[in-house]
Amino acid sequence: MKVFITQKLPGNCESLLMKKGIVTETYKSDDIISKSYLIKKIKNVDALICLLTNKIDKEVIDNMSSCKVISNVAVGFNNIDIEYAKLKKIVVTNTPGILTDTTADLAVSLILACARRIAESDQFMRARKFKKWMPQLMLGLDLKGKTVGIIGAGRIGQEVAARLKSFKTKIIYSSITRKLDFEKNLGSIKVSLNYLMRNSDYITVHVPFNKSTFHLLNKQNLTLMKKDAVIVNTSRGEVIEETALIELLKNKKIFAAGLDVYENEPNINPELLKLKNIILLPHIGSATIETRSKMSFLAAKNVISVLKNGKAINPVN
Ligand code: GLV
Repeated sequence: MKVFITQKLPGNCESLLMKKGIVTETYKSDDIISKSYLIKKIKNVDALICLLTNKIDKEVIDNMSSCKVISNVAVGFNNIDIEYAKLKKIVVTNTPGILTDTTADLAVSLILACARRIAESDQFMRARKFKKWMPQLMLGLDLKGKTVGIIGAGRIGQEVAARLKSFKTKIIYSSITRKLDFEKNLGSIKVSLNYLMRNSDYITVHVPFNKSTFHLLNKQNLTLMKKDAVIVNTSRGEVIEETALIELLKNKKIFAAGLDVYENEPNINPELLKLKNIILLPHIGSATIETRSKMSFLAAKNVISVLKNGKAINPVN
């Protein structure tokens, strides 16, 4: 049995696969594998371990006739045509759960960094602009007593809320379904998306990206935000209409934004780089040594489980 891995992964996922008698081949470069080379490499494999940077579309899937499982090293799987894979009897798996806390930590870090202008202050220091303490230098915003709006109260959204609750905030959320335990545990209240946009001081986005969440936050509802609102996105860039957000930030209609993901990732809209009231991160939501190793390990375990037992641990299709 053979698995192709589209990039070198942290941890010991390869040795786990080899121990189980599965031959691994890993694309050695740090560059994202080209579609044509990927297609060449997956012709005879039993499994593919891939990343969110690999677009696994119909054409790719049509070229993996012996493949039984596509194991994505991510919780999101919008990079894979999961319906078409299903049609071709290929199981698609992801790595949920293990990155929840790590990603929640980053969302909270972004909120705090935006509220207290951490990145701007760091740049100020490096530019040797700190001449004296001043009563109005780098004034930011408090969290205590403020309203946090959680868009998408799944695993990550709920963990972000739990962390922010300890800052003495009030939690409101928008979600397709009501989350009774979440309401009971944190006193959170389910509201409409427009209500959330209008009434939150801090907004954090945790929905998966799919057809129904493309530009979920758009010109119409982004403009409902309070003048001192902060918005943070650690989910997928396509969920926010980026040009509309840029306009708001440019015209100082909101306080700040923190982005870990982008609409045309890895290409960054140059307008974003010109703004001071934004913090930009390179999609590092799950990027800790511990979590990325666990994700790779789980991706390998999903492959083993499908190839040896015919059943995935984390199927998504
Ligand atoms: C990261 O963005 C993931 O989906 O795991």
